[in-house]
Amino acid sequence: MTSLPDTGAPVAIDPRIDAAVTDVLVTLRRNIDGFGLRYPDDTTDGARYPVRPASGDFAAGANRGWTTSFWPGMMWIAWETTGDDVFRRAGLAHLADFARRVRDEDDLDTHDLGFLYTLAAVAPWRLLGDPEGRSAALDAAEHLMRRFLEPAGIVQAWGDLSDPAQRGRTIIDSLMNMPLLTWAGEQTGDARFADAVRRHTTQLRTHILREDDTTFHTFYWDAETGEPLRGATEQGAFDDSCWARGQAWGIYGFALNHRATGDEALLDASRRCAEYFLAHLPADRVPFWDMVYTDGADAPRDSSSAAIAVCGLFELAELETDAARAARWREAAQGMLASLIENYTPADPADSDAVLLHSVYDFPKGIGVDQGTLWGDYFYLEALTRAARPGWRPAW
Ligand code: GLY
Repeated sequence: MTSLPDTGAPVAIDPRIDAAVTDVLVTLRRNIDGFGLRYPDDTTDGARYPVRPASGDFAAGANRGWTTSFWPGMMWIAWETTGDDVFRRAGLAHLADFARRVRDEDDLDTHDLGFLYTLAAVAPWRLLGDPEGRSAALDAAEHLMRRFLEPAGIVQAWGDLSDPAQRGRTIIDSLMNMPLLTWAGEQTGDARFADAVRRHTTQLRTHILREDDTTFHTFYWDAETGEPLRGATEQGAFDDSCWARGQAWGIYGFALNHRATGDEALLDASRRCAEYFLAHLPADRVPFWDMVYTDGADAPRDSSSAAIAVCGLFELAELETDAARAARWREAAQGMLASLIENYTPADPADSDAVLLHSVYDFPKGIGVDQGTLWGDYFYLEALTRAARPGWRPAW
């Protein structure tokens, strides 16, 4: 491992955290009143989240897609922070809908079951011992296991397993879906779950993380022979560029999976992703949407990548046994978080439904460019909570 890049002087962040959390809670309460049980869209349109649009058999506001759990995920953190029952009631109402979603097999052809059911169902199980959370999350984990492909040893990311365009393909984001399988293995004692996590994360470390410490967004395996084929992008600038959010998923995802498996190689993979990420930040420490862009580029930022990376760096800091290295990751996280608070949040919570501004969902397709996003909001609140309460554990 090379020496850590210089990312600027440590930032004293503590006085700003409480005010930032207070602002998030104001917005969250207003959004709970405004949306009720309907789900907002993935991203804002300007200052407001539209209700999730109708699609096929799904009515407007229905629970579909990969981002709906970030909504109750925030409510569970808000409840832990405040103890206010308004957040617990809202989180439980969403849990009932997530239990229905998995029961009815609504829009489950995705690896994102990990994002969905860790935040919407494992969280209330961890916090309240809620049996509905446990059974919904176990059902979702079983669905996710159906996507584990032999002999490749990977969980297919997107689409129907027979879709030739998606067969044998996985993506860097999938690292964040593994904690659902780890949790299911702990709950059931069934070794299939831990085995899938170990094999999938080893394949990503070996093939999706490149020698220069950047990451492919997606990678294909031959589903019949298990042979690794090629990397490609979907949301990045180029197949061989480094999509900023993918790199952030790498920091956080490899670290979480090291915690789960004890595999030192995953810890090193997380460190390598972090080093590259920190060394390629612009002056304000929030990346452009793809890391091919640097200071002076006329390209939008992806603040959600920074929020995810902050959580990943705090996680890395907890995992390091070397105190100096841990302090270095923590300082880098605090510096990025300070910039998010300062430069990427509404001046007044009333100004926006989103708590984190200036993210990018999918630049190549022109979706959600320079908008608020549900995941950006969630990871911003998780990052604030990690900063405010050292030792606090998220649901992952
Ligand atoms: N997991 C999808 C994304 O990061 O856009």
